[in-house]
Amino acid sequence: MAEATEELNADGEQEETYFYRKRVKCAPEEEERLERQHFWKVIDAFRYYRVHIHERVNRAERHFQLLPEHHRMLLPHFLSNLAKVRVSVDHNHEVLQAIVLNCVHMFENMEYGEEDDLRKVRPSSTFDMDKLKSTIKQFVRDWSEVGKPERDTCYQPLIDQILKIFPRDKCDPSKVNVLVPGAGLGRLAWEIASLGYSCQGNEWSFFMLFSSNFVLNRCDEVNSMTLYPWVHQFSNNKRSADQARPVTFPDVNPQSLPPNSDFSMVAGDFQEVYTEPNSWDCVTTCFFIDTAHNVIDYIETIWNILKPGGVWINLGPLLYHFENMANELSVELSYEDIKAVILKYGFQMEVERESVPTTYTENERSMLKYLYDCVFFVARKPAHLFSNGFPAADACQFGESQQNENDEDMT
Ligand SMILES: C[S@@+](CC[C@H](N)C(=O)[O-])C[C@H]1O[C@@H](n2cnc3c(N)ncnc32)[C@H](O)[C@@H]1O
Repeated sequence: MAEATEELNADGEQEETYFYRKRVKCAPEEEERLERQHFWKVIDAFRYYRVHIHERVNRAERHFQLLPEHHRMLLPHFLSNLAKVRVSVDHNHEVLQAIVLNCVHMFENMEYGEEDDLRKVRPSSTFDMDKLKSTIKQFVRDWSEVGKPERDTCYQPLIDQILKIFPRDKCDPSKVNVLVPGAGLGRLAWEIASLGYSCQGNEWSFFMLFSSNFVLNRCDEVNSMTLYPWVHQFSNNKRSADQARPVTFPDVNPQSLPPNSDFSMVAGDFQEVYTEPNSWDCVTTCFFIDTAHNVIDYIETIWNILKPGGVWINLGPLLYHFENMANELSVELSYEDIKAVILKYGFQMEVERESVPTTYTENERSMLKYLYDCVFFVARKPAHLFSNGFPAADACQFGESQQNENDEDMT
């Protein structure tokens, strides 16, 4: 997988610097071929979007035309609403093309080659189209005013803990390095960096990487861009106009980080990229740990990369991403089991809340809404460890479960 860094230079301007890093699993030529194939598959999805959604709108129109005339007469606005949906889709398409423009040259040390025929639009799978629709909705969560309530419930508890554990009046925040794996479109990592902490977001998906690159490096005017994130939703609309309503972004200028900020985005699989032990003061995960094939691998990686005394702050549900995927390993642990594993590694639970209601890319006007009852915790890797990497006597004993009945601050 490729690695991208979006570093800020000394003048506080973001530089587009991208590198390529991966762990080689098969012959290097084969790795490269697969990597290139995957890259173009995602680009194809961005290109195919308009055709795919237009087909869906055409179906809605066809079915309407099949109705008896006296039924159609009862719905004088149906077709004009579909026309608005089409225009909105075309607008989304333009933004998506802007996002992938020049992505071929996004990674400084990786060449993805030129396409045989740039105009050719190749069909994509429904799976990839769903990923693209989710990416469009992620713009709302991360970079719109509409997404603020969601960010307040999901990101703010994590930020509050960072401010509490590493108070800016008692330490130099630029010396506190925070990692945000599964950073999505980068807003949480950006917020942490905007408070003066040294922060790196990590993301694996090209859908997210192309989009975060676009918003972080190429959008510098507040609310200058528009997307129609709910245009794909044909059910559960209270009003016809709700489907094609616009959302503007970015709600802040992503280029407005304070001078000398240390903010970067690194592309690649979290477990492959982060192998340097004892290197992070804080790992912050939001809606991330359930993306693992085996969540214990994530716990182990976090344990290894945290400095002794470092903290892991987590908020999210356990909607295991690979649960229903054929031929994919998926170990679905309950929170109870995850907590037991965390304690057995030697982490000390300092804060725990077992019920934090949140939403994820919610359409506030939809008649169907999902509410996640998330877990939130702060787990510390003890400052004093034996040479075998496990806690010394004054810290939690490996193999012992540290009971934590309260669902509040344990400090
Ligand atoms: C549910 S989203 C959460 C995004 C963001 N943290 C938020 O709260 O909005 C999970 C993210 O983790 C990313 N991801 C999944 N597996 C990953 C891995 N192994 N390494 C890095 N990122 C990964 C996905 O691409 C996705 O963007």
